[in-house]
Amino acid sequence: MDEHSLLASFESTIGRHERIEPRDWMPEGYRKTVVRQVAQHAHSEIIGMQPEGQWIGRAPSLRRKAILLAKVQDEAGHGLYLYSACETLGVSRAELTEMLIEGRQKYSSIFNYPALSYADVGTIGWLVDGAAICNQVPLCRTSYGPYGRSMIRICKEESFHQRQGFELLATMMRGTDEQRAMVQESVDRFWWPALMMFGPPDDDSPNTAQSMAWGIKRNTNDDLRQRMVDMTVPQAAVLGVTLPDPDLKWNEERQSYDFGAPDWDEFKAVISGNGPCNTQRIAHRRRAHEDGAWVREAALAFARRSNEESHE
Ligand code: 3HC
Repeated sequence: MDEHSLLASFESTIGRHERIEPRDWMPEGYRKTVVRQVAQHAHSEIIGMQPEGQWIGRAPSLRRKAILLAKVQDEAGHGLYLYSACETLGVSRAELTEMLIEGRQKYSSIFNYPALSYADVGTIGWLVDGAAICNQVPLCRTSYGPYGRSMIRICKEESFHQRQGFELLATMMRGTDEQRAMVQESVDRFWWPALMMFGPPDDDSPNTAQSMAWGIKRNTNDDLRQRMVDMTVPQAAVLGVTLPDPDLKWNEERQSYDFGAPDWDEFKAVISGNGPCNTQRIAHRRRAHEDGAWVREAALAFARRSNEESHE
Protein backbone atom coordinates (compact mmCIF):
# COMPACT_ATOMS: atom_id res chain seq x y z
CA MET A 1 0.00 0.00 0.00
CA ASP A 2 1.26 3.51 -0.69
CA GLU A 3 1.53 6.13 2.07
CA HIS A 4 -1.75 7.79 1.09
CA SER A 5 -3.74 4.55 1.48
CA LEU A 6 -1.92 3.69 4.71
CA LEU A 7 -2.87 7.08 6.16
CA ALA A 8 -6.49 6.64 5.03
CA SER A 9 -6.64 3.22 6.68
CA PHE A 10 -5.07 4.62 9.93
CA GLU A 11 -7.56 7.49 9.98
CA SER A 12 -10.49 5.22 9.39
CA THR A 13 -9.39 2.98 12.31
CA ILE A 14 -9.20 6.09 14.54
CA GLY A 15 -12.58 7.27 13.20
CA ARG A 16 -14.19 3.93 14.16
CA HIS A 17 -12.67 4.30 17.68
CA GLU A 18 -10.75 1.07 17.18
CA ARG A 19 -7.25 0.41 18.42
CA ILE A 20 -3.95 1.02 16.69
CA GLU A 21 -1.69 -1.96 17.41
CA PRO A 22 2.14 -2.09 17.41
CA ARG A 23 2.47 -3.66 13.95
CA ASP A 24 -0.03 -1.32 12.30
CA TRP A 25 1.23 1.51 10.15
CA MET A 26 1.03 4.86 11.94
CA PRO A 27 2.17 8.39 11.14
CA GLU A 28 5.51 9.27 12.73
CA GLY A 29 3.86 12.16 14.64
CA TYR A 30 1.38 9.71 16.22
CA ARG A 31 4.19 7.34 17.27
CA LYS A 32 6.21 10.20 18.77
CA THR A 33 3.22 11.59 20.66
CA VAL A 34 2.31 8.22 22.17
CA VAL A 35 5.96 7.63 23.16
CA ARG A 36 6.13 11.11 24.72
CA GLN A 37 2.93 10.72 26.71
CA VAL A 38 3.45 7.10 27.79
CA ALA A 39 7.11 7.69 28.71
CA GLN A 40 6.16 10.74 30.75
CA HIS A 41 3.49 8.68 32.44
CA ALA A 42 5.92 5.80 33.15
CA HIS A 43 8.52 8.17 34.56
CA SER A 44 5.83 9.71 36.81
CA GLU A 45 5.03 6.32 38.29
CA ILE A 46 8.71 5.64 38.99
CA ILE A 47 9.62 9.09 40.33
CA GLY A 48 6.31 9.05 42.24
CA MET A 49 7.69 6.28 44.45
CA GLN A 50 10.10 8.73 46.07
CA PRO A 51 7.95 11.11 48.17
CA GLU A 52 5.90 8.32 49.74
CA GLY A 53 8.83 5.89 49.86
CA GLN A 54 10.52 8.20 52.36
CA TRP A 55 7.75 7.39 54.83
CA ILE A 56 7.99 3.59 54.70
CA GLY A 57 10.57 3.49 57.49
CA ARG A 58 8.60 5.99 59.56
CA ALA A 59 5.06 4.65 59.20
CA PRO A 60 3.38 4.62 62.64
CA SER A 61 2.40 0.92 62.72
CA LEU A 62 3.19 -2.38 61.03
CA ARG A 63 -0.20 -2.25 59.28
CA ARG A 64 0.45 1.22 57.87
CA LYS A 65 3.94 0.17 56.81
CA ALA A 66 2.63 -2.91 54.96
CA ILE A 67 -0.03 -0.82 53.17
CA LEU A 68 2.49 1.83 52.11
CA LEU A 69 5.05 -0.74 50.96
CA ALA A 70 2.42 -2.44 48.80
CA LYS A 71 1.29 0.89 47.36
CA VAL A 72 4.78 2.02 46.44
CA GLN A 73 5.47 -1.38 44.86
CA ASP A 74 2.28 -1.04 42.80
CA GLU A 75 3.65 2.23 41.38
CA ALA A 76 6.83 0.43 40.29
CA GLY A 77 4.65 -2.14 38.55
CA HIS A 78 2.72 0.60 36.74
CA GLY A 79 5.99 2.10 35.54
CA LEU A 80 7.05 -1.28 34.17
CA TYR A 81 3.78 -1.92 32.27
CA LEU A 82 4.08 1.54 30.75
CA TYR A 83 7.74 1.16 29.76
CA SER A 84 6.72 -2.14 28.11
CA ALA A 85 3.92 -0.34 26.23
CA CYS A 86 6.52 2.16 24.99
CA GLU A 87 8.88 -0.61 23.92
CA THR A 88 6.23 -1.84 21.45
CA LEU A 89 6.94 1.44 19.61
CA GLY A 90 10.63 0.69 19.19
CA VAL A 91 12.14 2.59 22.09
CA SER A 92 13.78 0.65 24.89
CA ARG A 93 13.36 1.14 28.63
CA ALA A 94 17.12 1.84 28.83
CA GLU A 95 16.80 4.71 26.33
CA LEU A 96 13.77 6.11 28.16
CA THR A 97 15.57 5.99 31.49
CA GLU A 98 18.54 7.84 29.97
CA MET A 99 16.17 10.51 28.63
CA LEU A 100 14.62 10.92 32.08
CA ILE A 101 17.87 11.26 33.99
CA GLU A 102 19.30 13.60 31.39
CA GLY A 103 16.20 15.83 31.70
CA ARG A 104 15.10 15.22 28.09
CA GLN A 105 11.72 13.80 29.10
CA LYS A 106 9.31 15.10 31.72
CA TYR A 107 7.46 13.45 34.59
CA SER A 108 4.44 14.70 36.49
CA SER A 109 4.90 18.08 38.19
CA ILE A 110 3.29 16.80 41.38
CA PHE A 111 6.27 14.66 42.37
CA ASN A 112 8.50 17.72 42.64
CA TYR A 113 6.73 18.67 45.86
CA PRO A 114 7.99 17.21 49.14
CA ALA A 115 6.07 14.86 51.46
CA LEU A 116 6.70 16.74 54.70
CA SER A 117 4.36 15.03 57.16
CA TYR A 118 2.85 11.58 57.54
CA ALA A 119 -0.55 13.09 56.62
CA ASP A 120 0.95 13.67 53.15
CA VAL A 121 0.86 9.90 52.60
CA GLY A 122 -2.93 10.07 52.96
CA THR A 123 -3.25 13.28 50.94
CA ILE A 124 -1.15 11.88 48.10
CA GLY A 125 -3.40 8.80 48.00
CA TRP A 126 -6.59 10.85 48.14
CA LEU A 127 -5.74 13.80 45.88
CA VAL A 128 -2.84 12.64 43.70
CA ASP A 129 -4.15 9.15 43.00
CA GLY A 130 -7.60 10.75 42.80
CA ALA A 131 -6.38 13.07 40.04
CA ALA A 132 -4.63 10.12 38.38
CA ILE A 133 -7.95 8.23 38.28
CA CYS A 134 -9.84 11.18 36.72
CA ASN A 135 -7.14 11.47 34.08
CA GLN A 136 -6.55 7.78 33.48
CA VAL A 137 -9.97 6.13 33.43
CA PRO A 138 -10.72 7.75 30.03
CA LEU A 139 -7.27 6.61 28.87
CA CYS A 140 -8.48 2.98 29.09
CA ARG A 141 -10.12 3.93 25.74
CA THR A 142 -7.03 5.59 24.27
CA SER A 143 -6.38 4.66 20.64
CA TYR A 144 -3.02 2.93 21.17
CA GLY A 145 -3.81 -0.69 22.18
CA PRO A 146 -0.94 -1.53 24.59
CA TYR A 147 -1.38 1.80 26.43
CA GLY A 148 -5.14 1.37 26.82
CA ARG A 149 -4.80 -2.21 28.05
CA SER A 150 -2.14 -1.28 30.60
CA MET A 151 -4.40 1.50 31.89
CA ILE A 152 -7.17 -0.96 32.84
CA ARG A 153 -5.15 -2.67 35.55
CA ILE A 154 -3.43 0.55 36.59
CA CYS A 155 -6.78 2.27 37.16
CA LYS A 156 -8.05 -0.57 39.34
CA GLU A 157 -4.97 -0.23 41.52
CA GLU A 158 -5.10 3.58 41.58
CA SER A 159 -8.72 3.42 42.81
CA PHE A 160 -7.59 1.23 45.65
CA HIS A 161 -4.76 3.69 46.41
CA GLN A 162 -7.18 6.57 46.48
CA ARG A 163 -9.40 4.79 48.99
CA GLN A 164 -6.46 3.88 51.22
CA GLY A 165 -5.43 7.57 51.25
CA PHE A 166 -8.97 8.63 52.16
CA GLU A 167 -9.14 5.98 54.89
CA LEU A 168 -5.84 7.17 56.37
CA LEU A 169 -7.03 10.78 56.42
CA ALA A 170 -10.43 9.79 57.84
CA THR A 171 -8.65 7.94 60.66
CA MET A 172 -6.49 10.98 61.42
CA MET A 173 -9.56 13.26 61.34
CA ARG A 174 -11.13 11.08 64.05
CA GLY A 175 -7.95 11.50 66.13
CA THR A 176 -6.53 14.46 68.05
CA ASP A 177 -6.65 18.19 67.22
CA GLU A 178 -2.98 17.97 66.22
CA GLN A 179 -3.77 15.18 63.76
CA ARG A 180 -6.69 17.14 62.27
CA ALA A 181 -4.43 20.19 61.89
CA MET A 182 -1.80 18.03 60.22
CA VAL A 183 -4.36 16.79 57.66
CA GLN A 184 -5.61 20.30 56.91
CA GLU A 185 -2.06 21.63 56.48
CA SER A 186 -1.27 18.80 54.10
CA VAL A 187 -4.43 19.37 52.03
CA ASP A 188 -3.60 23.10 51.86
CA ARG A 189 -0.21 22.28 50.33
CA PHE A 190 -1.38 19.61 47.89
CA TRP A 191 -4.68 20.98 46.55
CA TRP A 192 -3.31 23.34 43.92
CA PRO A 193 -0.42 21.13 42.76
CA ALA A 194 -2.97 18.27 42.39
CA LEU A 195 -5.09 20.45 40.07
CA MET A 196 -1.96 21.29 38.06
CA MET A 197 -1.44 17.59 37.30
CA PHE A 198 -4.03 17.88 34.51
CA GLY A 199 -1.70 20.17 32.57
CA PRO A 200 -2.01 23.75 31.36
CA PRO A 201 -5.41 25.34 30.57
CA ASP A 202 -6.83 24.20 27.23
CA ASP A 203 -6.04 27.49 25.51
CA ASP A 204 -2.40 27.08 26.50
CA SER A 205 -2.04 23.34 25.79
CA PRO A 206 -0.10 22.84 22.55
CA ASN A 207 -0.70 19.09 22.31
CA THR A 208 -4.36 18.61 23.25
CA ALA A 209 -6.05 19.25 19.88
CA GLN A 210 -3.88 16.83 17.89
CA SER A 211 -3.82 14.22 20.66
CA MET A 212 -7.63 14.29 20.80
CA ALA A 213 -7.95 14.09 17.03
CA TRP A 214 -5.79 10.94 17.17
CA GLY A 215 -7.79 9.54 20.10
CA ILE A 216 -4.68 9.43 22.31
CA LYS A 217 -6.34 11.80 24.78
CA ARG A 218 -10.10 11.44 25.23
CA ASN A 219 -10.73 14.67 27.18
CA THR A 220 -9.16 18.08 27.47
CA ASN A 221 -7.09 19.13 30.48
CA ASP A 222 -9.73 21.58 31.74
CA ASP A 223 -12.53 19.06 31.35
CA LEU A 224 -10.69 16.54 33.55
CA ARG A 225 -9.70 19.19 36.08
CA GLN A 226 -13.39 20.07 36.45
CA ARG A 227 -14.25 16.41 37.01
CA MET A 228 -11.63 16.22 39.73
CA VAL A 229 -13.06 19.26 41.54
CA ASP A 230 -16.63 17.95 41.27
CA MET A 231 -15.58 14.54 42.57
CA THR A 232 -13.45 15.87 45.43
CA VAL A 233 -15.60 18.61 47.01
CA PRO A 234 -18.17 16.18 48.50
CA GLN A 235 -15.36 13.91 49.70
CA ALA A 236 -13.69 16.87 51.46
CA ALA A 237 -16.99 17.57 53.22
CA VAL A 238 -17.18 13.96 54.45
CA LEU A 239 -13.61 14.19 55.72
CA GLY A 240 -14.24 17.57 57.35
CA VAL A 241 -11.38 19.40 55.62
CA THR A 242 -11.52 22.76 53.85
CA LEU A 243 -10.21 23.07 50.31
CA PRO A 244 -8.02 26.19 50.13
CA ASP A 245 -9.92 28.04 47.42
CA PRO A 246 -12.12 31.05 48.30
CA ASP A 247 -13.66 30.93 44.81
CA LEU A 248 -14.93 27.37 45.17
CA LYS A 249 -18.73 27.33 44.95
CA TRP A 250 -21.55 25.32 43.41
CA ASN A 251 -22.82 26.67 40.10
CA GLU A 252 -26.47 25.64 39.78
CA GLU A 253 -26.62 26.50 36.10
CA ARG A 254 -23.59 24.45 35.12
CA GLN A 255 -24.32 21.75 37.74
CA SER A 256 -20.61 21.89 38.58
CA TYR A 257 -18.32 23.73 40.98
CA ASP A 258 -16.70 27.03 40.01
CA PHE A 259 -13.13 27.25 41.25
CA GLY A 260 -10.10 29.54 41.17
CA ALA A 261 -7.11 29.33 38.86
CA PRO A 262 -3.94 27.51 39.88
CA ASP A 263 -0.73 29.54 39.83
CA TRP A 264 0.38 28.77 36.28
CA ASP A 265 3.72 30.54 36.76
CA GLU A 266 4.49 28.08 39.52
CA PHE A 267 3.46 25.20 37.23
CA LYS A 268 5.76 26.44 34.45
CA ALA A 269 8.66 26.76 36.88
CA VAL A 270 8.10 23.23 38.19
CA ILE A 271 7.94 21.61 34.75
CA SER A 272 11.02 23.53 33.64
CA GLY A 273 13.07 21.94 36.42
CA ASN A 274 12.72 24.63 39.08
CA GLY A 275 10.25 23.08 41.51
CA PRO A 276 11.10 22.43 45.17
CA CYS A 277 12.46 18.90 44.62
CA ASN A 278 13.35 18.52 40.90
CA THR A 279 17.12 18.25 41.47
CA GLN A 280 16.76 15.84 44.36
CA ARG A 281 14.30 13.58 42.48
CA ILE A 282 16.50 13.20 39.42
CA ALA A 283 19.68 12.80 41.48
CA HIS A 284 18.02 10.00 43.45
CA ARG A 285 16.79 8.29 40.28
CA ARG A 286 20.22 8.56 38.69
CA ARG A 287 21.89 7.07 41.78
CA ALA A 288 19.41 4.19 41.92
CA HIS A 289 20.00 3.52 38.21
CA GLU A 290 23.77 3.49 38.65
CA ASP A 291 23.54 1.31 41.77
CA GLY A 292 21.48 -1.18 39.77
CA ALA A 293 24.04 -1.51 36.95
CA TRP A 294 25.49 -4.74 38.35
CA VAL A 295 22.00 -6.34 38.45
CA ARG A 296 21.41 -5.51 34.78
CA GLU A 297 24.86 -6.81 33.83
CA ALA A 298 24.37 -10.03 35.81
CA ALA A 299 20.92 -10.60 34.26
CA LEU A 300 22.30 -10.08 30.76
CA ALA A 301 25.28 -12.40 31.41
CA PHE A 302 22.90 -15.05 32.75
CA ALA A 303 20.59 -14.69 29.74
CA ARG A 304 23.57 -14.98 27.36
CA ARG A 305 24.85 -18.09 29.09
CA SER A 306 21.43 -19.75 29.19
CA ASN A 307 21.06 -19.00 25.51
CA GLU A 308 24.48 -20.51 24.68
CA GLU A 309 23.72 -23.62 26.75
CA SER A 310 20.40 -24.16 25.01
CA HIS A 311 22.26 -24.08 21.64
CA GLU A 312 24.97 -26.56 22.71
N1 3HC B 1 3.60 17.66 34.75
C1 3HC B 1 4.65 17.75 33.92
N2 3HC B 1 4.52 18.14 32.63
C2 3HC B 1 3.29 18.44 32.20
C3 3HC B 1 2.15 18.35 33.00
C4 3HC B 1 2.34 17.95 34.35
N3 3HC B 1 1.35 17.87 35.21
N4 3HC B 1 1.08 18.71 32.29
C5 3HC B 1 1.52 19.02 31.06
N5 3HC B 1 2.85 18.86 31.02
C6 3HC B 1 3.72 19.15 29.88
C7 3HC B 1 3.40 18.28 28.69
O1 3HC B 1 4.09 17.05 28.77
C8 3HC B 1 3.87 19.14 27.55
O2 3HC B 1 5.29 19.12 27.50
P1 3HC B 1 6.12 18.50 26.27
O3 3HC B 1 5.40 18.94 25.02
O4 3HC B 1 7.48 19.02 26.44
O5 3HC B 1 6.04 17.02 26.45
C9 3HC B 1 3.51 20.53 28.03
O6 3HC B 1 3.44 20.46 29.43
C10 3HC B 1 2.23 21.06 27.46
O7 3HC B 1 1.10 20.34 27.95
P2 3HC B 1 -0.04 19.70 27.05
O8 3HC B 1 -1.33 19.84 27.76
O9 3HC B 1 0.04 20.22 25.67
O10 3HC B 1 0.47 18.19 27.03
P3 3HC B 1 -0.32 16.83 26.89
O11 3HC B 1 -1.34 16.91 25.79
O12 3HC B 1 0.66 15.72 26.85
O13 3HC B 1 -1.17 16.72 28.25
C11 3HC B 1 -1.15 15.39 30.28
C12 3HC B 1 -0.54 16.57 29.51
C13 3HC B 1 -2.59 15.73 30.63
C14 3HC B 1 -0.34 15.20 31.57
C15 3HC B 1 -1.14 14.13 29.38
O14 3HC B 1 0.17 13.90 28.91
C16 3HC B 1 -1.64 12.90 30.03
O15 3HC B 1 -2.82 12.70 30.17
N6 3HC B 1 -0.71 11.99 30.43
C17 3HC B 1 -1.02 10.70 30.98
C18 3HC B 1 -1.19 10.75 32.45
C19 3HC B 1 0.09 10.96 33.22
O16 3HC B 1 1.18 11.16 32.72
N7 3HC B 1 -0.05 10.88 34.53
C20 3HC B 1 1.02 11.01 35.44
C21 3HC B 1 0.33 11.36 36.71
S1 3HC B 1 0.90 10.65 38.09
C22 3HC B 1 0.69 9.02 38.15
O17 3HC B 1 0.11 8.43 37.31
C23 3HC B 1 1.29 8.28 39.31
C24 3HC B 1 0.26 7.81 40.26
O18 3HC B 1 0.90 7.03 41.21
C25 3HC B 1 -0.48 8.84 40.98
